[in-house]
Amino acid sequence: MPQQFPAEARLNAERRQWLHWAGAAVLAALALAAPASGRAQEADAVARGRYLATAANCVGCHTEPNGAEYAGGRALKTPFGTFYGPNITPHPEQGIGSWSDEDFLRALKRGLSPEGHPYYPAFPYTSFAGITDADALAIKAFLFSLPPSDRPSRAHDLSFPYSIRLALWPWRWLYFDPEPPPVAADASAETARGAYLVESLGHCGECHTPRNWLGARNEDRKLAGNVDGPEGDKAPNITPDPDTGLGSWSREDVIRVLETGLLPDFDAVGGAMGEVVRATSKLTAEDRAAIAAYLATVPGVPNPDAPATQPEF
Ligand code: HEC
Ligand code: HEC
Repeated sequence: MPQQFPAEARLNAERRQWLHWAGAAVLAALALAAPASGRAQEADAVARGRYLATAANCVGCHTEPNGAEYAGGRALKTPFGTFYGPNITPHPEQGIGSWSDEDFLRALKRGLSPEGHPYYPAFPYTSFAGITDADALAIKAFLFSLPPSDRPSRAHDLSFPYSIRLALWPWRWLYFDPEPPPVAADASAETARGAYLVESLGHCGECHTPRNWLGARNEDRKLAGNVDGPEGDKAPNITPDPDTGLGSWSREDVIRVLETGLLPDFDAVGGAMGEVVRATSKLTAEDRAAIAAYLATVPGVPNPDAPATQPEF
């Protein structure tokens, strides 16, 4: 070790002292910055959750006309009776404010309440099962950023035997497949994104796929149209079948409906799809294009009972 002159030793001591303070300052700055970046992350999740909730149109079923958003009360008429979307604001008693992340994931992706009772598939958890955990928790962060509403959730008004919640266990056993449909190995990133938006978040099949008498979707006729759609609406065939589906529509035709609600025959979609368009019109152009790209890849299924609108030439 080279010998140090006293002056050099003093200089080194000063440097060490300086380093000590500089290090402390850096640590202090980091400590101050940490909660700020935590808050930024939180704000980021809320913004992302808001977009995802829009794509899933959570507001539609969970908001009464002219009511507070997500405070529940919306009547959903089905062949099994009338469901009322519950309050999903963060109110600790009337809403979901006391729910943990696990409670929320189990409800949205498994259709089970925190007490373990099964939800009716009028809550489209059969589609939401394919939402990633990260996206589901972003939706929760967004919901928890809303003002809590103390509006009590209203009991459903269902006909027998559908009124028996326990009857849902065999239904689940027969029909609930929590795995989202596999994406083709050679699918482009755009098609894969479209599959996620159509099958999981956008739950298009909940209306456009025909159901059997027990209300389960017939996946062999995926998106081929449903004569018993929501509120008695007929949901058209949106597979690429050339005669009864979207086969003769251009990609722009599909994108235009999702953005503006205008059909190729210049009519506008109404009813349940009008509400869906309120959601799809708020998506990015890339996401609407991805939906159109994916719809072009599903198997074409003829369905003369629920034909698509044919473009006029
Ligand atoms: C098509 C209508 C519909 C859509 C869309 C919908 N829900 Fe629901 N949701 C319901 C119905 C109906 C119930 C009640 C089910 C039951 O009681 O069995 C429900 C129940 C719930 C519950 C359980 C509430 C409780 O108090 O137990 C949560 C949480 C929930 N929905 C969140 C969401 C989120 C988040 C979205 C969007 C990603 C969403 N829902 C989209 C209809 C819908
Ligand atoms: C709540 C039920 C419901 C959901 C969910 C739904 N649709 Fe629809 N859709 C309908 C109904 C009903 C019509 C017919 C509207 C009309 O003719 O006025 C329709 C019409 C359409 C049309 C026009 C077809 C034609 O031939 O006129 C397209 C395209 C379409 N939907 C695509 C989608 C896509 C993509 C999604 C998912 C992002 C979706 N829909 C989700 C009920 C629904």
